[in-house]
Amino acid sequence: MCGIIGYVGHRTALPILIEGLRRLEYRGYDSAGVALASPNDVTVTKSAGRISALEQIIDVESTQTTGLGHTRWATHGAPNDVNAHPHADSSGRIAVIHNGIIENDRALRTYLEQHGVTFTSDTDSEVLAQLIAQLYDGNLEKAVRQALHEVSGTYGIAVVCADEPGVIIAARQGSPLIIGVGKDEHLLASDAAAILAHTSQVVYLGDGEMARITPNELRITTLEAVPVAKEVEEIEWSLEQIELAGYDHFMLKEIFEQPAALENCLRGRIDLREGTVHLGGLVDCARELVRAKRIILTGCGTAWHAALVGEYLFEELARIPTETEYGSEFRYRNPIVNEGTVVIAVSQSGETTDTIAAFNEAKQRGALTLGVVNVVGSSLARGTDAGVYLHVGPEIGVASTKAFTGQVAVLALIACFLGRRKHMSPTAAMQFITALSQIPTQVARVLERADDARKVAEKYQQRENWLYLGRGYNYPVALEGALKLKEISYIHSEGLPAAEMKHGPIALITEGMPVVVIATAGSQYEKIINNISEVRTRGGSVIAIATEGDREIAKMVDHVLYVPDTLEPLQPLLTAIPLQLIAYHAAVIRGCNVDKPRNLAKSVTVE
Ligand code: G6P
Repeated sequence: MCGIIGYVGHRTALPILIEGLRRLEYRGYDSAGVALASPNDVTVTKSAGRISALEQIIDVESTQTTGLGHTRWATHGAPNDVNAHPHADSSGRIAVIHNGIIENDRALRTYLEQHGVTFTSDTDSEVLAQLIAQLYDGNLEKAVRQALHEVSGTYGIAVVCADEPGVIIAARQGSPLIIGVGKDEHLLASDAAAILAHTSQVVYLGDGEMARITPNELRITTLEAVPVAKEVEEIEWSLEQIELAGYDHFMLKEIFEQPAALENCLRGRIDLREGTVHLGGLVDCARELVRAKRIILTGCGTAWHAALVGEYLFEELARIPTETEYGSEFRYRNPIVNEGTVVIAVSQSGETTDTIAAFNEAKQRGALTLGVVNVVGSSLARGTDAGVYLHVGPEIGVASTKAFTGQVAVLALIACFLGRRKHMSPTAAMQFITALSQIPTQVARVLERADDARKVAEKYQQRENWLYLGRGYNYPVALEGALKLKEISYIHSEGLPAAEMKHGPIALITEGMPVVVIATAGSQYEKIINNISEVRTRGGSVIAIATEGDREIAKMVDHVLYVPDTLEPLQPLLTAIPLQLIAYHAAVIRGCNVDKPRNLAKSVTVE
């Protein structure tokens, strides 16, 4: 989604802005632009397409030391040069970049047109620039504050003005902004990745807060001009973590990072001597949590799939009735939140609008709200009552991989944490966490056979329709495998509970159609073998994900990708890996842009 970078300091702003924009590319965008402020004017350069297109038209000699950069993911108005940000007012002295959506832009636009303003773009964001200019009387901060009082919607904005060239005014309502603190300089960004090369010292702007940023001063106030004291915090991610480190794509790097990422995620949380799970983030609410009468897990996309695994885990290990809801559905359907309802939001970024809205709805209705989030300091992480971080490191590839396994691992830890305080015996808990502690090494073993998955992708990459089938804990993995394939290789794929196939989708099976079946050892093994025969009888080609040592299955299917044996509830942590690899290789072979798939964004900050 849209990305923001800003710089005010003693260095030339342009290279810092361009580098920041490049680091924001992964979020997904369709146009980009920069604004550089000097006492004479504000120079805006913008272009549809990639940042390289912007670089071709920009004046590389620019020496201004204050500027803004933006990557846009179109919502209002087509992705073209004119609608790209920054947006300047008609005089060209004020420029604005904006993430989010201004909901009353029509009314404001009409009002401004009646006062003689001529708009050049179709965007809601230009309304902000024009409105601020109308209100400007020599004090940019005041004008922005007044303008924001007229606005409803969500925003992370940054504004510069030719009359105040060493100043950036920023404000946030529902769209993240962090301010990087350097020596005689400040940076501003919607995402830590954009500024990490310069500083790891940051201040998180909260909703309803504004910042006046100069090279040497950072002043934060509420929209009502009440000063807010803020602490400078340290970002725990390093620059190396957000770079490719020799891999062709971030997605591949992140797939291969999973053993280390899971190791990190589990570190200090599993106590093999005591047979317990330690989750510092839940200690304060443990009693309330254990008494939960019902748990609702909410998320979007891959996080929703991880949440579905969590539903199975919570019901089996903790015996608490649990359901999984899409954030977008939960928020609008007048959900029932009784006493004893706990809502757990699952999100890599912690910024997904629908998930945040669901969790806000739950909070308003009095639920205890928890977060299972990767990005420290994100909106969700800051807004929940308690939570558990994934600690899997930054995920840059749009297709989520290590965040999925991290989410499942954390949900498994929470399930055991609760189970142990309820019905789970010490022996069962010990068995569970021992198996969990072996997962990172087992994932590494799956990755050693990555080439088998590549061969499958190579063989079937031209087929435009795939099915993914799974049962029990592997049903959400089937959904996730199908999502991975469609989102990066643009192959149509569907994930199903295996038994549902005969209620309709079986009609799709034709000669040679690839059907990925997760057929690992477990309580439903015989059933899934029957499903495999149903596919084979109709000419489908079966790619089975099976447990090491299962030689029999090789006789029944076209290809087998083996994973080590583990407890059934933990199988998703292993079975997801070959499916990630199939999707990755299919996309590469088909020439798709793996890390920046068409129309997609890493973090979806609109409804
Ligand atoms: C987008 C991403 C997905 C992700 C989903 C939820 O659609 O492309 O990969 O699963 O958002 O994101 P979150 O950050 O909340 O986990």
